[in-house]
Amino acid sequence: MVSKNASAKPDILDSRRASAQLELKDRALAATYEGITIADASLPDNPLIYANAGFERLTGYPVSEVLGRNCRFLQGPGTDPDAVAALRTAIREKHAVTVQLLNYRKDGAPFWNRLSITPVLDASGAVTHFIGVQSDVTIEKEATDALQKANERLEAARQQAKRELEAAGVVQRSLLPVELVHVPGYNFAFKVKPCSDVGGDCLNILPLDESHLAVYILDVSGHGVAAALLSVTLSHMLSVVPDRSFLYQASTANPGSYSIAPPAEVVSRLNRHFLANPGALQFFTMIYGVLHLPTAEFRYVSAGHLSPIHFMPGRTPRIRETGGVPAGLLPAATYEEHSLTLSPGDRLYLCTDGVFEAEDHSGQELGVQGLIEMLDRNRDLPIEYVLASVMRSVDEWSAPAGLSDDASVLAIERSS
Ligand SMILES: Cc1cc2nc3c(=O)[nH]c(=O)nc-3n(C[C@H](O)[C@H](O)[C@H](O)COP(=O)(O)O)c2cc1C
Repeated sequence: MVSKNASAKPDILDSRRASAQLELKDRALAATYEGITIADASLPDNPLIYANAGFERLTGYPVSEVLGRNCRFLQGPGTDPDAVAALRTAIREKHAVTVQLLNYRKDGAPFWNRLSITPVLDASGAVTHFIGVQSDVTIEKEATDALQKANERLEAARQQAKRELEAAGVVQRSLLPVELVHVPGYNFAFKVKPCSDVGGDCLNILPLDESHLAVYILDVSGHGVAAALLSVTLSHMLSVVPDRSFLYQASTANPGSYSIAPPAEVVSRLNRHFLANPGALQFFTMIYGVLHLPTAEFRYVSAGHLSPIHFMPGRTPRIRETGGVPAGLLPAATYEEHSLTLSPGDRLYLCTDGVFEAEDHSGQELGVQGLIEMLDRNRDLPIEYVLASVMRSVDEWSAPAGLSDDASVLAIERSS
């Protein structure tokens, strides 16, 4: 009896323990917030044999309605067929899978279901069941989608801004002369190297009458569309159409006739004109001058711009006085006129700051002295070659980052 009782007791204890454990697992599954489903892999079409309260809460289907059915009843018109195909393949090939797909609750309301299915193996390694875990990721998915849409809109706006900037760059570059005037006794050349962003350099040499040339080089503050627009406006104001240009002044004595405006008057008028538009907050530096062809006298004004660099055969290059306030900044700005005369063989170089402020990889600027040395090294070459060589050197100097501002040079030579 003793031995019989002794052998029966552990059995009872074991089975009690086992059933307590099963009960615990049951309660744990039932209490899980996520949906949990078990499908019988040995029956045709993998019907559900278990669904927890989480599944009921998530889908709105009472457990009694879903047992014995394949879980595809949650799918509907918006369900991605590719996600369903991924499920089908995984179940057929008996491996685990996780997908995110649109499902529908019993009341027809859609929700995003992150579904993981895992095969359950018996002791022999055969798949007997599949266990499915369903999580409602609607809020997460909507937030991700909204973020993606916002990113797409941002990217579209960025592309649009880029296209507009490119268009502005095209317009701005179209202002540059295709070629400069041809005048006996003089040679002219220019080079403009636009930066990757749209800068605002502009230059030209234009005949004012048969003995005077207007010469200008200007650099608009800032970059981008606003800079391009200002240089377009300026190039119209600096045209040789007398009644629309700042380069001429109307004669009071003789209505309908025009005379060449002195450089200081041109720059002062531009200054006043752009101050009149304080909302724009844009200014520009420039050199404007008038070259009298018979005497080779160049009368010019600098508005905050590097003054002309004067090369004379056999002499040290001379940088003319700098100065003047950029135009469009100060109502009280006054502009002083300077004069120089080109002897045969003399050259004048007018440069924007993009040239001498070009930075190398360590942030060091080329500098005005560096620029003069470059020009000096090539002083025996024709001016076109000098400019080409200077631009090549500026390119090399600013590599690999490249220029952060337009770099422009205009050269005037009195033939020897
Ligand atoms: C345990 C288990 C749970 C599943 N749960 C879902 C579910 O919540 N939502 C769903 O769209 N599909 C679910 N499925 C997948 C579908 O039942 C079915 O396998 C899928 O639609 C691919 O097969 P079909 O192309 O024959 O429909 C589940 C499958 C299993 C085995």
